[in-house]
Amino acid sequence: MAPVLEVSGLVKHFPVEGSHAVVQAVNGVSFTIAAGETVALVGESGSGKTTIGRCVLGLVPPTAGSIRFRGRDMGRRWNVRSPALRGKMQLVFQEPGESLDPRMPIGRSIAEPLRLGSLDRAARERRVQEVVQRVNLPLDILDQYPTELSAGQQQRVAIARAIVTDPELLVLDEPTSALDPTARAEIIELLMRIQRELGTAYLFISHDLSTVHQVSHRIIVLYLGRVLEEGASRAVFRTPRHPYSVGLLSAVLLPSPGLRRETTFVLEGEIPSPINMPPGCPLATRCPFRIDRCSTAFPDAERIGPQHVVHCFRHEEVAAREHATDTFEEFQRIAQRILAARGDRPESELAGIPALPPHRQADRVEDDTER
Ligand SMILES: Nc1ncnc2c1ncn2[C@@H]1O[C@H](COP(=O)(O)OP(=O)(O)OP(=O)(O)O)[C@@H](O)[C@H]1O
Ligand code: SF4
Ligand SMILES: [Mg+2]
Repeated sequence: MAPVLEVSGLVKHFPVEGSHAVVQAVNGVSFTIAAGETVALVGESGSGKTTIGRCVLGLVPPTAGSIRFRGRDMGRRWNVRSPALRGKMQLVFQEPGESLDPRMPIGRSIAEPLRLGSLDRAARERRVQEVVQRVNLPLDILDQYPTELSAGQQQRVAIARAIVTDPELLVLDEPTSALDPTARAEIIELLMRIQRELGTAYLFISHDLSTVHQVSHRIIVLYLGRVLEEGASRAVFRTPRHPYSVGLLSAVLLPSPGLRRETTFVLEGEIPSPINMPPGCPLATRCPFRIDRCSTAFPDAERIGPQHVVHCFRHEEVAAREHATDTFEEFQRIAQRILAARGDRPESELAGIPALPPHRQADRVEDDTER
């Protein structure tokens, strides 16, 4: 079966007003997403995550490359709002307020994407009630307005609105970063349940690596619009092989200071301007492993595991210095041990730590047999 989404050699350059220069936001990114799969885009601010999401949704036209949805080239004519897509692709923003009209009752907001479809009024109402129940909201919320709801409830409404057309792909751009830890954990659990029940594919964009660790099957590490490493989530979190990925994972603040990822080096130095990109590896100005070649050529993809690819001339040296470790997994293990011992779930102390999703529970069994 064709993947739900195929992105191939995507390039997006934005013109800089009053000059011939361009911002090179995305520089040749390729990936696929299958039904029921979550692919996460991670990377520092400005790495091109949102721009990729916007190109996928047809909200900005790519400079080059192609985007195929269910095997059909999106070209330049379609976007997420096109009736031709019939709501098969939807998006959820960081701020639920951005997708909800403050003057519109919740029921009308959720029904809005059905407006151009073939359902009559009664069928639309039934469908809205169905999705409201699916996201665990009470039906009387339909007559309320966004300002009467908490941020977590608003995000549930935004998710209900996104799934009301039964989409095959959801683009989720930082869907939990505006929420407190309890609401974040609830939204993550909700998204994972929806995916299990409906088989929706997710393009999950996030700064928050512990959330990415929980939800994603595969991750793509981006820097200045280029893919530096990609692979099965477990492989990249446990054995990152690109210096940038190692730096990114080491910089994450885990809820326990004792569980910070140990590393043997730090990334220092200036981040190049996306208007004046260096010709070689974009990390060369910050990388302690750099050699002369790094300033002249961007490394080809090297497959280092069944589902693990890295773009670095010196990934073997990185591997020799970094031992396999997965601090996120370790943290979840400890948290779950505490929860099991207590036989309950103290939200105040352990909010933000939902149970390992099924695909990561399998990892845990495998991990245990390795040790
Ligand atoms: N409309 C635009 N016009 C010009 N430059 C843009 C535009 N949109 C994005 N950019 C630039 O493209 C680059 C990538 O931006 P993008 O928003 O995709 O990054 P991001 O990874 O989503 O960052 P963040 O984590 O901060 O959301 C940045 O240098 C940004 O300034
Ligand atoms: S290619 Fe060179 S500069 Fe880039 S990450 Fe690898 S060693 Fe560092
Ligand atoms: Mg962004």
